[in-house]
Amino acid sequence: MHKFDPAMTELITDYVKERLAMADTSVDGLGDRQQLEEVMADLIGDGPRPAKEVLDIYVDHLAETILSSDSPRFFAFIPAAPTKAALLFDMVVSAASLQGCSWLEAAGAVIAENQALRVLADVAGLPASAGGVFVSGGSAGNLSALVVARDAARHRRTEAGLPEIRMRVIVSDQAHSSIKSALNIVSMDAIVVPTSDGRMTEENVRAAIAKEREYGDVVAIVATAGTTNAGIIDDLAGVAKVAQEHDWWFHVDGAYGGAGMLSRSLRHRYDGVELA
Ligand SMILES: Cc1ncc(COP(=O)(O)O)c(C=O)c1O
Repeated sequence: MHKFDPAMTELITDYVKERLAMADTSVDGLGDRQQLEEVMADLIGDGPRPAKEVLDIYVDHLAETILSSDSPRFFAFIPAAPTKAALLFDMVVSAASLQGCSWLEAAGAVIAENQALRVLADVAGLPASAGGVFVSGGSAGNLSALVVARDAARHRRTEAGLPEIRMRVIVSDQAHSSIKSALNIVSMDAIVVPTSDGRMTEENVRAAIAKEREYGDVVAIVATAGTTNAGIIDDLAGVAKVAQEHDWWFHVDGAYGGAGMLSRSLRHRYDGVELA
């Protein structure tokens, strides 16, 4: 449908309004493959289907098999916790096919992104030079941080006339699995630090490197601000100190717990994040 269809628009906006108005969104549940396959059989064919019929299939059969992360009773996994305002603006983004690729194509989107990033950087206590981009999630964030850590180290080695080597990164035994995957992609290896009760401390890191015969190939440390399983925040200040001593890249994975920095009563637990 490339032409505006008022009836279809009303159908969809009515559904969206009804969904947004729910105070207590249902968590919904699991799907039965056979039942779903029957519902979906031949849905895509040669001819068009009435919009109402397609929406009904979604509402009556599919929606209830997609867990609602906006439900106040949803406590599993961490895909999103959107406010109603954010969901509404998502509609604006979709309606205008907004993309924030570059200043040339989307200055209005980029300036809004930069402003939001500045607010977050200030909360974290990062310097005026801090910048970034929003990415699709924690895995993409960890990957982009490790690419930068690797390239910065490579650049320094090249400048110093040193040969290319396979580099290593210090991570805790509680680091999210995406760190391991990202290291695999960027061809780096991990030194895994055993934690004390799930929290990586300065002492844990020092003990782990003391066990290494040689660690000139280490280029970064990854700490976690809110571990996936227990929400534990590493000793960021202590770990940052070790990173600074060795001139290692310091990355903090705040995918799960980073938002806690916005709470005045919790902010002190993140001390040291400003050194990332
Ligand atoms: C600490 C941490 N880092 C990274 C991720 C990966 O995030 P995403 O699923 O958005 O890629 C998660 C997800 O649970 C996480 O808890």
